[in-house]
Amino acid sequence: MLIRILGSAAGGGFPQLNCACPMCASVRAGRPGFSGRTQTSIAASADGKSWVLLNASPDLREQFAATPALAPDVGKGLRNSPLVSVVLTNGDVDALAGLLSLREGIAFDLHAAPPVLDTLKANSVFNVLNPAFVRRRALSFGAPFSVAPGLTVEAFTVPGKTALYLESDAPDFGTREGDTIGLTITETNTGKAFHFVPSCAKVDAALASRLRGAQLVLFDGTLYTDDEMIAQGLSQKTGRRMGHMPMSGAAGSIAALADLGIISKVFVHINNSNTVLDANGPERRAVEKAGWQVAHDGMEITL
Ligand code: MLT
Ligand code: MN
Ligand code: ZN
Repeated sequence: MLIRILGSAAGGGFPQLNCACPMCASVRAGRPGFSGRTQTSIAASADGKSWVLLNASPDLREQFAATPALAPDVGKGLRNSPLVSVVLTNGDVDALAGLLSLREGIAFDLHAAPPVLDTLKANSVFNVLNPAFVRRRALSFGAPFSVAPGLTVEAFTVPGKTALYLESDAPDFGTREGDTIGLTITETNTGKAFHFVPSCAKVDAALASRLRGAQLVLFDGTLYTDDEMIAQGLSQKTGRRMGHMPMSGAAGSIAALADLGIISKVFVHINNSNTVLDANGPERRAVEKAGWQVAHDGMEITL
């Protein structure tokens, strides 16, 4: 199975367009150790010809342009694309705004949980996706469904919250079942699989048992410490308030996934405040020492 990390940053990207923090400034200045990152989207394929896209980041047009495998085939007529399906894990802007860049008549299946499909339905701008080409499908939980030749996806709910722009005064901000999901992508003829969990508030027993023994996990790497956005003067919110668990600490993802026998662990959806983005910094060394990789745009993984 071929996996391409088209984008690896959290919402806002790296640098974020209005952020003058030292790390975003370092990317703009081209300082060693600082590489720009677009917002998280992943592509996977069994045959290198048909691809499924996991989340449609606002940077999708640029991500396709940077990925030769996703280019149209000049031998197949004037308009074609190797994209055959898109699966969404949540309704955040950074997970779905790129759908608007897929409005040019590509035929694909769009799989999402009911709350996210409701959001697409409620926002008429997404009607630009002609239903004659784009088939919206309510994904089912607990049963794999086909997304591309030789590839299935199984969806599972994970602890999280509703999208920022949907938060209400209701308990838990009006979060519904299926607002945040993870995906298991399996190559049917080899059984090779990876898990994609770009947003996660907590590793509960169900999630730990699903991830146990995995070949590859691409996991929420939004923040290094829960209060880093407050400490850096960027925001008043903790990671927990945003529905993301930090990497570090006793309640962090590094500790939660440490003893599950996972072969490869890669952080994706990394926020511009996260100091692991400094490739020469102590936090990067700490996560690598703990057996994790920090994803970068253009990263290629073959399972
Ligand atoms: C998140 O991952 O918490 C969201 O992308 C935040 C946002 O919508 O800006
Ligand atoms: Mn996000
Ligand atoms: Zn910044």
